[in-house]
Amino acid sequence: MTLLKIEDLGVYFNARGRIVKANNGVDLEIEENEILGLIGETGCGKTILGRAIIGLLSENVEIKGKIIYRGENLLTLSEDKMRQIRGKEIGMMLQNPSISLNPVLTVGEQIAEVYRYHEGIGKEEARKKAADMFKLVGIDPKRMDEYPHQFSGGMKQRVMIAIGLALNPRILIADEPTTGLDSSMKKKIVDLTSELVRSRNMSMLLITHDLEVAKRMCDRIAVMYAGELFEIASADKILSKPKHPYTQDLLDSLPRRGLKPIPGASPSLTSLPAGCRFHPRCRYKRDECSEKHPEMIETEGKNHVRCFLYKNDENKG
Ligand SMILES: Nc1ncnc2c1ncn2[C@@H]1O[C@H](COP(=O)(O)OP(=O)(O)O)[C@@H](O)[C@H]1O
Ligand SMILES: [Mg+2]
Repeated sequence: MTLLKIEDLGVYFNARGRIVKANNGVDLEIEENEILGLIGETGCGKTILGRAIIGLLSENVEIKGKIIYRGENLLTLSEDKMRQIRGKEIGMMLQNPSISLNPVLTVGEQIAEVYRYHEGIGKEEARKKAADMFKLVGIDPKRMDEYPHQFSGGMKQRVMIAIGLALNPRILIADEPTTGLDSSMKKKIVDLTSELVRSRNMSMLLITHDLEVAKRMCDRIAVMYAGELFEIASADKILSKPKHPYTQDLLDSLPRRGLKPIPGASPSLTSLPAGCRFHPRCRYKRDECSEKHPEMIETEGKNHVRCFLYKNDENKG
C-alpha cells in the first residue's frame, strides 16, 4: 500500500531574479513498511524534497504538483494543519543536529516539549515520556538535564532519533543522519534507526549521499540528479545492476570500487542543459540526448529509469 505519493513535484526558488530549479517533475511513492533511500551528489535537491514533504521551505519558493498523504494534498493544507502532521504523522530528523538542536534547552526539555505541544500534557508526564524515549535510543535518562554541547556527535544523533520518533509517526524523514560520524558510530546509528523503524512498522525516507548507508538500510532507492529523479529500483537492483549511466558512475566513485570520480560537474540549477541533464558527462551520449528531454519510463518490476538507452518494452530483466 502506498502511504505517501509525490506527483510531478516542482520546487523553484527565486534567488535574486534567477530561478533555481531545485526539484523538477518528481514522481515518487513511499510504501507502507518501506525504507526508501534518496541518493545523489550534494546540491542535487534531496533536502529540498524532504522539506517539501513536511512543508518547511523558505518564502521565496514556488511549488508545483501534489504530495498526497491519506487522501489529502499536503501542499494545499494550512500551516496550522501542517503543524499537526509534522512530527505526529511525518516525523523528521533534519540535517545537522548541531544546528537543529536548541543550544539553550536541555536535551530532555527538547523531547518533553514535543509531548507538551502535541499532547497537551503536564511537565512531569512529558518528562517521563522523554525518559522512555531516551532509554529506547540508548541514552541513560540521567543525562536528560545536560545541554546539546555536552553530547558527542553520535549522542546528539540519538537525541534526533528520539525527537523524530517521539510521537510515533507513520513516516520518518531522515536527512543525512550519519553525517560527521565515524564509521563504527555510523553503523550503530544506522542499525538503531532501522531497527526502530522496522519494529514500529513505520516507513522511512532516508536521504543520504552515502551509498554504503543506503545499501545497509533501504528496500528501494531513488537516485536524484540536478533536481530530477533518474532511477528508482529495489536497493539490490540499484547496487548490483544499475541501469542509468549516472547511477553506474556514482557506484564507481565509491571507495571500495576504486574511487573513480565522475568526470565534469553537476550543472547549475539556474542554467540546466537542454535534453538530458546528465548528457554533458555521459559516456553513452548520443545526438538525441542533447536535444530531447528523456521521460521516466517503467522497466521490469515497477522499476523506473530516465534514459534513452532504455525503451518502455525493451531491455527488461
Ligand atoms: N532558499 C533557497 N533559495 C535558493 N536556492 C536554494 C534554497 N534552498 C536550497 N537552494 C538550492 O537548491 C539546491 C538543492 O539543495 P539541497 O536540496 O539542499 O541539496 P542536497 O540536499 O541534495 O545536497 C541547491 O543548489 C541549493 O543551493
Ligand atoms: Mg542535503
